[in-house]
Amino acid sequence: MNQQSSINSMQHQELILVLDFGSQYSQLIARRVRELGVYSELHPFNLSIDAINERKPKGIILSGGPSSVYEEGSPHPASEIFDLEIPVLGICYGLQVIAYRLGGEVNTSVRREYGQAELFIDDDADLFANLNEKGRTNVWMSHGDALTKLPNDFERIAHSSNSPICAISNKGKKIYGVQFHPEVVHTTKGKEIIGNFLFKIAGCQGGWNAGSFIERKSNEIQSTVGKQNVICALSGGVDSSVLAVLLHKAIGEQLYCIHINNGLMRKNESENVIKLYRDTYRFNLDYVDASDVFLSRLNGISDPERKRKIIGETFIEIFEAEANKIGRVSFLAQGTLYPDVIESTSFKGPSHTIKTHHNVGGLPEKMNLKLLEPFRELFKDEVRAVGKALGLPKEFIVRHPFPGPGLAVRILGDITKDKLIILREADDIFISELRKARLYEIIWQAFAVLLPVQTVGVMGDQRTYDNVIALRAVTSLDGMTADWAQIPQEILSKISSRIVNEVRGVNRVVYDISSKPPSTIEWE
Ligand code: XMP
Repeated sequence: MNQQSSINSMQHQELILVLDFGSQYSQLIARRVRELGVYSELHPFNLSIDAINERKPKGIILSGGPSSVYEEGSPHPASEIFDLEIPVLGICYGLQVIAYRLGGEVNTSVRREYGQAELFIDDDADLFANLNEKGRTNVWMSHGDALTKLPNDFERIAHSSNSPICAISNKGKKIYGVQFHPEVVHTTKGKEIIGNFLFKIAGCQGGWNAGSFIERKSNEIQSTVGKQNVICALSGGVDSSVLAVLLHKAIGEQLYCIHINNGLMRKNESENVIKLYRDTYRFNLDYVDASDVFLSRLNGISDPERKRKIIGETFIEIFEAEANKIGRVSFLAQGTLYPDVIESTSFKGPSHTIKTHHNVGGLPEKMNLKLLEPFRELFKDEVRAVGKALGLPKEFIVRHPFPGPGLAVRILGDITKDKLIILREADDIFISELRKARLYEIIWQAFAVLLPVQTVGVMGDQRTYDNVIALRAVTSLDGMTADWAQIPQEILSKISSRIVNEVRGVNRVVYDISSKPPSTIEWE
């Protein structure tokens, strides 16, 4: 085990392993388990038996997946997985893997099942206990193959009109399988069914929540860090804000935060960060106004990738210089999240994660720093819950994600101070109107973009030839896919007229109605 993973290794009293066979719902299974108060991790389907044993899981859940078990190259778990005496729940393809391995039969269904179905419960002793549904419940199906013969020593515990064998159990070995998807909300009692697996079958106790996370992590951070110092780049975004507050709670004065103003921040952003962390929380906060350096290096640069590269390198250079001034620093804290960590979670190949720029890549080795990443096990909304439990002001917790390169990737073409002023003002109007309309919190991300074209307009009796602002707002769960947000027309109309009236140099506003894919969220 290398130094970094030993620092980040977690002592979980209870862990549920989810093995991923490629279903679009695999992450959702892990989420549901966590919501029920048990820590869970998602791993590729072929996690080795040694790696499974090392983690000492209380239970294993086999996810669904797009394959057929008999297909060449279809994913199969390590063969000893059913001999570990660890409770197993197979979901959809996971059920078929159980059947395939343990003497059952799977065939292409005569009638495929997609969508809602009625489940008839034959045995409500454990997996289907206390559903209060009088022996029937609505479930979500999505399968072509189905079980046609029970595996050895298994019994049927539920059926549907299209799936005569819809759920199975081997109570002695604590192996269960369901054809439907309990993790999706359309399965009315899905959470209860997963809960029964966790608490009745796998013997979990629960209790994993933001409060217990904070306590455990604070202790872990204290014992890892000892009397040494930690630095943290504090951008003011959700992850770095919650990270800094957690670290400060754990190690107080040993934490040194650095806020670098790269000149590409939104209106009043740096001022607000300083006000909160230096004046209210009284952190050791080093504020570096490096706007001139960043902007001069970006002068005349239009290519998005070059912009990103220049910003990333300049950030590291300045951060390194500041860290050296502080001296005696042994750790670098980063707000890396769980989706960034999952190795190759998907059977179909490594899942695409967007690496955040503010993670100061390359620095730890160069400066001989050890990494501290207490959020490696959390999803974004779990970080928000930790922030809330730590008492961070709501405005910092509900903030939309903001890219490391900041407004540089929202000014298409070259960047100038004048363009930055225009964009900041327009963005501020857009966001404040969304807040007023109570839409800010239901939107994943919203921002203004300054386009590199001028268009003709008429203001008063004057012809104008001015800039265009594009408004972008999307709803999303994780930023990987996104839908354009259906903002009511009257609100769009108010935003548009305020921008044109109040921001000098803008005579046209357009609204971006593209989803991701095929478009990305940012324009560059
Ligand atoms: P896209 O535009 O690829 O973005 O759909 C998905 C999410 O990632 C953010 N993003 C970035 N974040 N550095 C970052 O820290 C970057 O270079 C970067 N590019 C995109 C984007 O704002 C969205 O939340």
